Formats: sequence, structure tokens, C-alpha cells
Amino acid sequence: MEYHKPVLLDKSVEALITDPNGTYVDVTFGGGGHAREILNHLGEHGKLIAFDQDPDAYQNEIKDDRFHLVMSNFRFLKNQLRFLGIKEIDGLLGDLGVSSFQFDTAERGFSTRFKGELDMRMNQNQTKSAKTVINEYEETDLARIFKEYGELRSARKWANKIVHERKTNPIETTTDLTNLFKNQIQENRRNKIFALLFQALRIEVNDELDALKELLVQSAEVIKPEGRLVVISYHSLEDRLVKRFIKTGLFEGEPERDMFGNWYAPFQPSQSKVITADEQEIDLNPRARSAKLRIGIRNGEEKKN
Ligand SMILES: C[S@@+](CC[C@H](N)C(=O)[O-])C[C@H]1O[C@@H](n2cnc3c(N)ncnc32)[C@H](O)[C@@H]1O
Repeated sequence: MEYHKPVLLDKSVEALITDPNGTYVDVTFGGGGHAREILNHLGEHGKLIAFDQDPDAYQNEIKDDRFHLVMSNFRFLKNQLRFLGIKEIDGLLGDLGVSSFQFDTAERGFSTRFKGELDMRMNQNQTKSAKTVINEYEETDLARIFKEYGELRSARKWANKIVHERKTNPIETTTDLTNLFKNQIQENRRNKIFALLFQALRIEVNDELDALKELLVQSAEVIKPEGRLVVISYHSLEDRLVKRFIKTGLFEGEPERDMFGNWYAPFQPSQSKVITADEQEIDLNPRARSAKLRIGIRNGEEKKN
């Protein structure tokens, strides 16, 4: 099985590299598709540090003196770089979410298509899994997660049904969960709704939105002026955070303006429009359909938007 086909490969790598002998970080190594392409663009003195929190990604490690792989959540970006003696970098790439390998491995529990344990941990050393969330969370918390992370309209009803069911039968597998709701959803809408339910659980299990926010804030502290922040996201909750952060330096609210109406933000968007995959790429790799690529250029301290 192919581990993962990289998405928006050329556009993201071209946007990232400003100096072939600079230092770059790929915070989502996965199958190493982006990492290999970055190394192809780097000169002899270039460096690439990659992160992945999933020990399975280690089977793809690249043997190259310019490359170093760190097994860590990217929310520890600054500390890990400091540990390696790196204070600033020329660019950072994030290709968020799960890899095809994670998604297509039944026992990882990410996909509604297979029967597997309700796991969904990207980092298998972590204790909280989807089973914990489904079987131990309070009803109100389940409803909140389904609403906020899955944007599911029946969030409260679903949370109530889960809490009722688990009193007599623990919900242990992906199919235990989908069977609970199968008959309440029209067949043609099932895949979409289950995908949103699983998305909500995955975000909660891996604390994905907070990890992303921490990454973005720290990226501004390590990327040099003129360096690039390049992020590919696959759903609107992530894309919204990336878009707002690149535009304003904030995740919500309005930036504080000076008397001329300008504000300071660590990045400015390199394009006014989001970059997406073309039909040709989507035909070859359906996963590319939802991909959104955003690029931020690090401002100097005095530059205002
Ligand atoms: C979409 S895949 C990346 C694929 C990669 N660009 C390639 O070309 O093969 C996302 C990867 O990032 C990892 N990941 C997601 N969130 C992470 C986080 N917070 N910290 C570290 N790794 C993370 C996942 O384990 C997964 O392997």
C-alpha cells in the first residue's frame, strides 16, 4: 500500500523555499512526499527538520545528512528547535490532518469505511482514544464536540443516544457507532454525516485545533522576515484559523489599529485567493479535492498591513 500521495506538492514546495541553503521545517512528515521534494530543492548547506507524532511515520525516514526527523507533536515546535540549537528558520510547511496510511488502516479507526477499534489517536502513546471520548465523556461535552467540530445539526440528539446506549453496551468499534445512527439517516446522506461525526471525534482525540493554534503562534516566533508559512488544510475549521492568523495574527476578533487604520500582523498573505488543486490532480488523488493552501510571508517588525 502506498503510504500517502502528497497533495499540492509543487505549489507548496515552490512557495516555501526562498533560499536553497536555508533551514526549513516540515511539521507533518507522514509519508515524506513533501519532505523529499523539499530536499530536492535544497542545496548542499540546506537543512530540513521534520516532525510527526505518529511512530508509524518513522518507516519513511529519509537517509540524508541534511535531514532530521523529530518524533513530536508540532505544538512543541519552538522547544524542539531550541533543543536542536535552531533559533530561526526560513520557512515552515504544514500539511494537516491524517495521512492516507492512517486513514486506510482499519485498526486505527479513522475511517467509516472499515470496522476497527474506535481509536483515532495519531500518537499511539497517548491514552485518550475515540473509545474514551464516546464511552466516558458527559453528554453535554459530546454534544458540544459534535456541534463545534462536526457542525452536526443533530448533535444533542446523537449525544443523548450514545449516553443511553453505553449504559448497557459499550461502544467499541467504528461500526458499533455507525450502526447506532444508520437507520436515522437517509442512505444518500450517510457517508457525509458519518464523515463529519468521525471528523469531530478525531479533532477532539488529537486536540487538533489547539495544536494548530499553538503551531501558528510559534511559527511567527521562529520564521525569519521574508520567510514563508505554508499550510495545507482539509476542512473549514482549520482553514479558518490559518486564514485569519495569516491575515491578522489573531484567531478571532479584530486587530488593534493605529491612528492611520493600520495594524501589525506577523505575516501577510502572499495571495489574496486560496490555492486549490486542479481537476487533473483531483482525478489522480481524490483527497486533494478539499485541500486549501495558504501562504504567509513573515513581516519585519516595522511592517504594517
Ligand atoms: C496529511 S499527512 C502529511 C503527509 C505528507 N505531507 C506526505 O507528503 O506524505 C499528516 C501527517 O501529520 C501528522 N500530524 C498531524 N498532526 C500532527 C501534530 N499535531 N504533530 C505532529 N504530527 C502531526 C500525522 O500523523 C500525519 O502523518
